[in-house]
Amino acid sequence: MTLAKITGTGSYLPKKILGNHDLEKMVDTSDEWIMTRTGIRERRIADEKETTSDLGIKAAKKAMEKAHVKAREIDLILVATSTSDMIFPSTAAYIQHGLAAKNAAAFDLSAACTGFIFGLSVAEQYIKTKRYKAILLIGTEIMSRIVDWTDRKTCVLFGDGAGAVIIQGTDSDEGILTTHTYTDGSYADFLFAPGSRTPTSLQKELAVKKLDVIHMKGNETFKVAVNNMGKVAKEALEKCELTVDDIDLVIPHQANKRIIEAINKKLVIPPEKVFINLQKYGNTSAASIPIALDEALCSNRISQGDYVLLVAFGGGLTWGSSIVKW
Ligand code: COA
Repeated sequence: MTLAKITGTGSYLPKKILGNHDLEKMVDTSDEWIMTRTGIRERRIADEKETTSDLGIKAAKKAMEKAHVKAREIDLILVATSTSDMIFPSTAAYIQHGLAAKNAAAFDLSAACTGFIFGLSVAEQYIKTKRYKAILLIGTEIMSRIVDWTDRKTCVLFGDGAGAVIIQGTDSDEGILTTHTYTDGSYADFLFAPGSRTPTSLQKELAVKKLDVIHMKGNETFKVAVNNMGKVAKEALEKCELTVDDIDLVIPHQANKRIIEAINKKLVIPPEKVFINLQKYGNTSAASIPIALDEALCSNRISQGDYVLLVAFGGGLTWGSSIVKW
């Protein structure tokens, strides 16, 4: 049976660094508070002229190079993002043009910070059914454009970046073994950024009424995140008839060190098996897992035959997991 295999990864982080001490000058916060509550030390901020598609193109080119896949060989471009260049056309359309991937269909997928896992599950189906041979899946975000820079409860958490993977079919037993995705829209108001729900009559007051920025119930989100990430990770293990001892590396969504530590406790997994880079980038939403995956591979944290568990959580609320045999 054909499995879907990740054959190349790439990432791109904007150059500008915004450290906790810089944030101390912007809102009533401290490096100590941010480090203790989140583990984040700094995050990257896109240049004024950079777009979400620009970041995605840079990450994609690296993934394509590693997979030895040319632009014209890509059949589908899937972009997971909550910070699309435009409402339409899709960010995927801009990326398709930017890469000159003339044979690729392209669309965006919205599942907030779980977007990459949802994207994997879609790509997996197209490859397994042999509809497509080569898929470019990208998580790319410019969260800094939808963050309220006067709200200390949210502005310290997010950052910008992009990660990409090429997914192709294989007849070997190495590839995406399983994907699990969930949504519970009854929690929509825990974490959201307004869109076309804003009535026309209020559009002049977008900024005043904070109708154009992220809103979050931090404590409530934290609890649902820990519970559901734990559950969905266990579900993936059971589906593959694996235990945590079989897992070589866990790559969780990089939202908050405390959320990750709570999940480690639930799964009874030692911290050395868990990849964390959120201290450098903060929460880059749909980009966080593909960036971390690329860094884990570049730093030789993953070897052939390893079992890698991916697990994420985000607005929706959404959550999901995947196990990949490398
Ligand atoms: N600097 C200093 N103080 C801050 C602060 C900041 N950046 N942000 C909040 N505070 C204050 C609060 O105002 C509150 O003060 P009060 O007690 O005087 O009212 C106090 O710190 C505690 O706030 P609380 O919200 O209870 O803190 P917390 O321990 O829950 O941590 C989060 C807040 C946001 C870090 C935490 O809830 C969290 O990580 N939630 C999940 C969010 C997330 O990851 N979302 C994305 C999911 S994909």
